[in-house]
Amino acid sequence: MERHGSEMNNTIEKLIKYHELTKEEYVELLESSDKAGIVNCLAKEAVKLRMKYYGKKVYTRGLIEFTNYCKNDCYYCGIRRSNRHADRYRLTKEEILECCRNGYKLGFRTFVLQGGEDPWYTDEKIVDIICSIKQEYPDCALTLSIGEKSFESYRKYKEAGADRYLLRHETACESHYKMLHPKEMSLKERKACLYNLKELGYQVGAGFMVGSPKQTLSDIADDLIFLKELNPQMVGIGPFIPHSDTIFASEEAGNLNLTLFLLSIIRIILPKVLLPATTALGTIDPKGREKGLSVGANVVMPNLSPLTNRKKYDLYDNKICTGEEAAECISCLAKRVESIGYELVNERGDALY
Ligand code: 5AD
Ligand code: FES
Repeated sequence: MERHGSEMNNTIEKLIKYHELTKEEYVELLESSDKAGIVNCLAKEAVKLRMKYYGKKVYTRGLIEFTNYCKNDCYYCGIRRSNRHADRYRLTKEEILECCRNGYKLGFRTFVLQGGEDPWYTDEKIVDIICSIKQEYPDCALTLSIGEKSFESYRKYKEAGADRYLLRHETACESHYKMLHPKEMSLKERKACLYNLKELGYQVGAGFMVGSPKQTLSDIADDLIFLKELNPQMVGIGPFIPHSDTIFASEEAGNLNLTLFLLSIIRIILPKVLLPATTALGTIDPKGREKGLSVGANVVMPNLSPLTNRKKYDLYDNKICTGEEAAECISCLAKRVESIGYELVNERGDALY
């Protein structure tokens, strides 16, 4: 191991021992994302923890992107409501069930229903979809990722059988949140949703984009502090990638190495967390997902959406896996996962806490 300053050594030791740092210490650590000795040391520790709890298993979640209509207008997102160029689609319940059928045959035991915030899918419709999926596949976990809803709506979905919910907090810094979202959206509301979901007994996933416009290392330190406090079962992080039809079209994409460094740090902060190597990570680097798995991630989320809609769920430019059938995606991923000595598994993969 390369020699770091003794203060940095103390910080690293503290992180490994106590799984938590102060804001100042996080910022200082994040400033070292270009120091190979430090990065490798934390990656090694992250892999050790991941091995201890999950072994060489990489969990799969079948992603079904069922609507790209969205009533929100997040500045970074390609399916924001004011993007007139977006080619909108909605899947019917039958089409969604068909994706599940296809996915089940391929071995998936977790389905993730993801969509923009689309009021066309009333609570009644969502509940009906959840019930139908759970009836046909009682052995599968069902994850929702459909944005901010009332406590009451979340309660109904839970009662209908939803097990998990993904809602990235996007950034835990109030002023930065304002730079990424129009004024009708608030970090307070976002956080309240996450705590409501926890209270209702969902396995919860939070997360943020790395390198979103105007993000500072202090903002990322806030994200890490918030994640430790929330203690979610899953954390989704990926690099920000500009979308040509948004006001952030000419902003720089997030940095690969910083994203990988953060995956290791998050694995150490929350040792048992389910941590996906995201599609965005695979988009900024051809080996991005393999690299993510090699530094602490343990989940991949292949796309089960119908091929005809794939390209339309266009959150950012050059998104990968939009031309492949689900079966091709899974065999490609299995090969990638095996190439780095891990094993792709289909089991439900519930969180360990
Ligand atoms: N680049 C990277 N990730 C994005 N997301 C939305 N837009 C972008 C973008 N331009 C992420 C958000 C959202 C998730 C579904 O996709 O974090 O929560
Ligand atoms: Fe749809 Fe942000 S644009 S939730």
